[in-house]
Amino acid sequence: MMSDFTSGFWSIYIIAFTVLGFAFCVFLLLAMNRKISKEEQQETTKHVWDGDLAEYNNPLPGWWRIMFWGLLAFSAIYLIYYPGLGSFEGVGKWSSVGQFEEEMAQLEAQTKPLYDRYSVMSVQQVAQDSVAMGMAERLFLNNCAQCHGSDARGAIGFPNLRSGAWNWGGTPEAIQESIAGGRTGVMTPFAEVLGDAGADQVTAFVRALSGLDHDAGAAAAGRPLFEENCVSCHGENGAGSQAVGAPDLTDDIWVYSSSDRAIRESIVYGRNMEMTGGTQAMPAHKDLLSPGKIHLLTAYVWGLTN
Ligand code: HEC
Ligand code: HEC
Repeated sequence: MMSDFTSGFWSIYIIAFTVLGFAFCVFLLLAMNRKISKEEQQETTKHVWDGDLAEYNNPLPGWWRIMFWGLLAFSAIYLIYYPGLGSFEGVGKWSSVGQFEEEMAQLEAQTKPLYDRYSVMSVQQVAQDSVAMGMAERLFLNNCAQCHGSDARGAIGFPNLRSGAWNWGGTPEAIQESIAGGRTGVMTPFAEVLGDAGADQVTAFVRALSGLDHDAGAAAAGRPLFEENCVSCHGENGAGSQAVGAPDLTDDIWVYSSSDRAIRESIVYGRNMEMTGGTQAMPAHKDLLSPGKIHLLTAYVWGLTN
């Protein structure tokens, strides 16, 4: 267990405080632990209230002392077994993280046979199994919907998985790779290369490619700029490349919307994880989900368009 103490001093401080408090309680109990005679029992503390109310000076009752000893014994055992004394982790090596991991592993082991049943089936077969798809839908809602939407139609910056246009590929293998390994498309910024006028011209050309309204003169001027700077990733005619996750610019499906402004923004600022604050990446799930779950999710995503 990692301790929260950054210096050894505070750990020792807490231990000293706890042990001294414990010793003080033991001392108090021992001091009170005496038999008293009948006469002594009649003695009062000499405090008198309202003229005739006095207080006997009797020791603590036996049942109360036994309970207190029991409590002290319990806390001693507790502090030896569990973490509590400064950064001492306890002989039981218990930690909340450890307990959590143990419970997760148990749950994983319990549900594994459920997923194993489908691991031997092909993605196509699993996609036709309604029980499997019920499980997969829950997995999708828990792990994917926050980015791709509960209907898998995505949002600005998060691909629509029902569009049928795949930036990284729509085969079972490509989808499985997207989920397990994650994807980070790098669209480099072109502000410096193109300048303001160049950015306008290339934007017009991209709009022309996908049949959006555009300024024909600007688009014509944008063509050579596109050929020079963009085809290496987006392909000869702008149809995209699944090898680098570059979207098809000729269809009407957009990761970042088809507005003039969004297209220009993609070109000028780029769409790159480091440059846009770390939001535009598909996280790898191979360490988060078991292979059995990834297989089900692959079938689910594949089944959305097949
Ligand atoms: C943190 C947000 C986030 C989560 C969670 C997330 N995704 Fe993604 N996903 C993205 C982004 C962003 C992309 C686009 C990456 C790129 O092209 O640079 C993407 C891309 C994909 C692709 C590739 C799409 C294509 O056009 O080729 C698939 C498939 C996919 N995600 C499936 C899933 C599944 C299934 C899950 C749940 C296990 C999931 N994603 C969870 C953000 C997320
Ligand atoms: C290094 C490869 C690369 C180069 C070069 C490149 N792009 Fe991209 N482009 C990408 C990738 C990858 C994406 C997807 C980014 C994402 O989804 O996060 C993208 C996204 C885009 C988008 C947004 C598409 C959408 O669906 O919203 C536009 C528009 C675009 N690029 C235009 C261009 C233009 C114009 C050029 C040349 C000036 C260019 N790109 C050069 C890789 C590239």
